[in-house]
Amino acid sequence: MSMTLRRLSRAATAGLVAAAALTAAAHSAEAADTLGSAAAGQGRYFGTAVAASHLGEADYTATLDREFSSVTPENEMKWDATEPSRGTFTFTSADRIVDHAQSQGMDVRGHTLVWHSQLPSWVGSLGASDLRTAMKDHINGLMGHYKGEIHSWDVVNEAFQDGGSGARRSSPFQDKLGDGFIEEAFRTARAADPAAKLCYNDYNTDGVNAKSNAVYNMVKDFKSRGVPIDCVGFQSHFNSNSPVPSDYRKNLQRFADLGVDVQITELDIEGSGSAQAADYTKVVEACLAVDRCTGMTVWGVTDKYSWRSSGTPLLFDGNYQEKPAYDAVLSALGGSGDPGDPGDPGDPGDGTASCTATYTRTADWNSGYNGQVTITAGDEPISTWTVTVTLPAQQSVSSLWNGTPTWNGNVMTVKPSWNGTLAAGASTAFGFTAAKNGSDAAPTVGTCTAS
Ligand code: G3I
Repeated sequence: MSMTLRRLSRAATAGLVAAAALTAAAHSAEAADTLGSAAAGQGRYFGTAVAASHLGEADYTATLDREFSSVTPENEMKWDATEPSRGTFTFTSADRIVDHAQSQGMDVRGHTLVWHSQLPSWVGSLGASDLRTAMKDHINGLMGHYKGEIHSWDVVNEAFQDGGSGARRSSPFQDKLGDGFIEEAFRTARAADPAAKLCYNDYNTDGVNAKSNAVYNMVKDFKSRGVPIDCVGFQSHFNSNSPVPSDYRKNLQRFADLGVDVQITELDIEGSGSAQAADYTKVVEACLAVDRCTGMTVWGVTDKYSWRSSGTPLLFDGNYQEKPAYDAVLSALGGSGDPGDPGDPGDPGDGTASCTATYTRTADWNSGYNGQVTITAGDEPISTWTVTVTLPAQQSVSSLWNGTPTWNGNVMTVKPSWNGTLAAGASTAFGFTAAKNGSDAAPTVGTCTAS
């Protein structure tokens, strides 16, 4: 859809938008028992990354529409998706997300304009002068198309190296245009859509460290010289190697004190049960303690579609059941969702048995491998579970332990042997040995069902 058509179409769908506003009002008139409505009660948004390809899945969309007040396209606004060849913009998938969000009264974060990754190869082959023009054209192309429709844009993403140096990361932009590319991108962005908040976004900057110090110094410099910047995004991808830092709130606050908003932009925390819930609580409490922390976005709706799916890092499990982390976030936001309320799907007491299954390869040799499938009960105890595993056609399983398989072609359906009974949140695993027979591909694990 062209820019003009998009704006015209927005005007034509004013009735739809009005209906969306009614939907949003209906949400907030209910008790604050969803993430979005509870966060709104704290003056914040609560968002999620969304993939256009999942919007046709009823449970995905129902969960999205019920719980969240902001969406970030997970991949659809990136350079490779929107300008795969120079000057040819494609917005089909991104428009699908924006249109859906607007139909539900949700806001949209833009992610991301200038990033070294998911960058089409033509960009890297340009000389400096051409690259500068292409960068500005790209910013203008995206921000023009969505002018007035995006609450915050990640203008530049991940421009600093990890590690202790605080140096800029090598990229076509850095290597050919130098440090000034970030400033040029922000100035171009301000002119393209003056209403959008302009953010710098990065990871491993969540606590006070050399990398966050380098970003801090850049923002301080921008503010002192009048370079337009409104916000800093803290991605907040956490796991045992990168836990929630103890100085998280302090770090958010020092950025806020520079005169920018701060946003938690890609939150996910690997783990499960009460430990994961406690970590989520820390993050929400840190944001709420900082006046200029305007909102939080989790990096996906359900564990099963997370970029770190094996780490089950999100608030809803693979069956869209609320996890303990969900209850913790809702409670930290001051929501009235009552853990134990039989009306809340996934809460203890709702009687819905559920489980999730994740696969890992535990051993590997030339002709074969060992695989392990871990089954984790949801918020209810379970007495049995069933998981399907589809193997690549050439592969064959020679042995399987801690489970009972039945076969249909290359699909094995596995039920417990001795290990069907699991407490809420508890795990068990079965293992198997497979012959590769020429295919090294991983098997696919289907949905876990429990009773
Ligand atoms: O769409 C293609 C599909 O056609 C193809 O068959 C398949 C084969 O691999 O790839 C699919 O594209 C994948 C895409 O996600 C959509 O699923 C890419 O390979 C894969 O690399 C891409 O991963 C994304 C990653 O960014 C790439 O850098 C993740 O979904 C996305 O969650 C992740 O998000 C980033 C943020 O943008 C920036 N911060 C870190 C964060 C996590 O890595």
